[in-house]
Amino acid sequence: MTVRTSHVVPFQDVTELLAATGARVRNSVPLAGLTTLRVGGPATVADCESVEALVATVRTLDAAGIPVLLLAGGSNLLISDAGFGGVVVRIATRGIEFSEAGVTAEAGAAWDEVVAASVASGFGGLECLSGIPGSAGATPVQNVGAYGVEVAQLLRRVRLLDRKSGEIRWATPDELGFGYRTSVLKHSDRSVVLAVEFALRPDGRSAPLNYRELAAALDAAEGETRPAGQVREAVLRLRAGKGMVLDAEDHDTWSAGSFFTNPVVPTEREAEVRAAIAKYVGDVTVPAYPSVAGVKFSAGWLIERAGFGKGFPGTPAPARLSTKHTLALTNRGAATAEDMLALARTVRDGVAERFGIRLEPEPVIVGSTL
Ligand code: EPU
Repeated sequence: MTVRTSHVVPFQDVTELLAATGARVRNSVPLAGLTTLRVGGPATVADCESVEALVATVRTLDAAGIPVLLLAGGSNLLISDAGFGGVVVRIATRGIEFSEAGVTAEAGAAWDEVVAASVASGFGGLECLSGIPGSAGATPVQNVGAYGVEVAQLLRRVRLLDRKSGEIRWATPDELGFGYRTSVLKHSDRSVVLAVEFALRPDGRSAPLNYRELAAALDAAEGETRPAGQVREAVLRLRAGKGMVLDAEDHDTWSAGSFFTNPVVPTEREAEVRAAIAKYVGDVTVPAYPSVAGVKFSAGWLIERAGFGKGFPGTPAPARLSTKHTLALTNRGAATAEDMLALARTVRDGVAERFGIRLEPEPVIVGSTL
């Protein structure tokens, strides 16, 4: 998805407009500091630390026709070097509450804190989603998933502000059109997630382990369960080994996670794609998994086999593939948004040319296009 705005709204006007909302308004904030990729130019930022402030701020900006960019954990955003001309509404709510049956988290709560607190409180279910950067409220938007578990499987309901009608209500998963890394929330600006609620396992056991690499790490047969805390530790180790756990010292983690989704090739094109791969790579086993209406290939594998190995294109390029996982595009410290986009184009076009598969970006791209 691409978000655009052409004109810059004066800071003074925004301050006056939002005076009664409870938001803290800041001028010319470098957005690079609010994203895990650490790129992006300046914008006016309205920090909202309560649900009331968040609702009032969005309603006020919408009524005034000012473009809004919602930002929470900043882990799935690639913001252009020009920044954003409207107002960045920063969702900084933090609340996490447990009941007998699960957990309710405000949208701005750090996702991994929700997972850690659930495990520490004796609940199972979320442990496979350990170590994922970003906020709780963002998880249903793109149906975050890892190690065989997706948010859609555990979500009980989502509290939404409807920006068109002004209504606030709880929506159930069947209304949200979940698919692989997508939902109706991803492709529309109509709703703001205010809170999420998950049904958890009160016995403290993990979800059944059905990701081979994780099951192997725990010496478990696929389908078995383990204490949630053990699974969380194993997931954190696996993710860290791939540079997928944030660490300010490690540039391999200055990323937006997986930059591309794993492509699903329709059944009728499968033979053609496999032939293209065999022609270029030789007779090898290609990681591929059955999926709705086709076969899901591994984007990381395709990128690597198309000639973009770990660390591509090497020193001193400011934007490079992670040295631990080819699916993460990383900022080595001084990259601009344009550097990141140029690398993304090179990789996308190379894979398309060699294998006939067009990779689609996973992060939201603001103020530019791939
Ligand atoms: N591979 C390579 N080279 C690499 C990395 C991976 O060839 O550098 C190949 C290997 O064949 C490997 C396969 O790709 O077996 C799959 O790799 P991995 O298990 O790391 O999973 P992924 O498909 O690359 C997905 C999610 C991740 C999630 C992991 C673990 C997507 C786009 N990505 O990655 O989610 O953490 O599985 O479940 O679905 C994210 O969405 O931002 C994200 C990090």
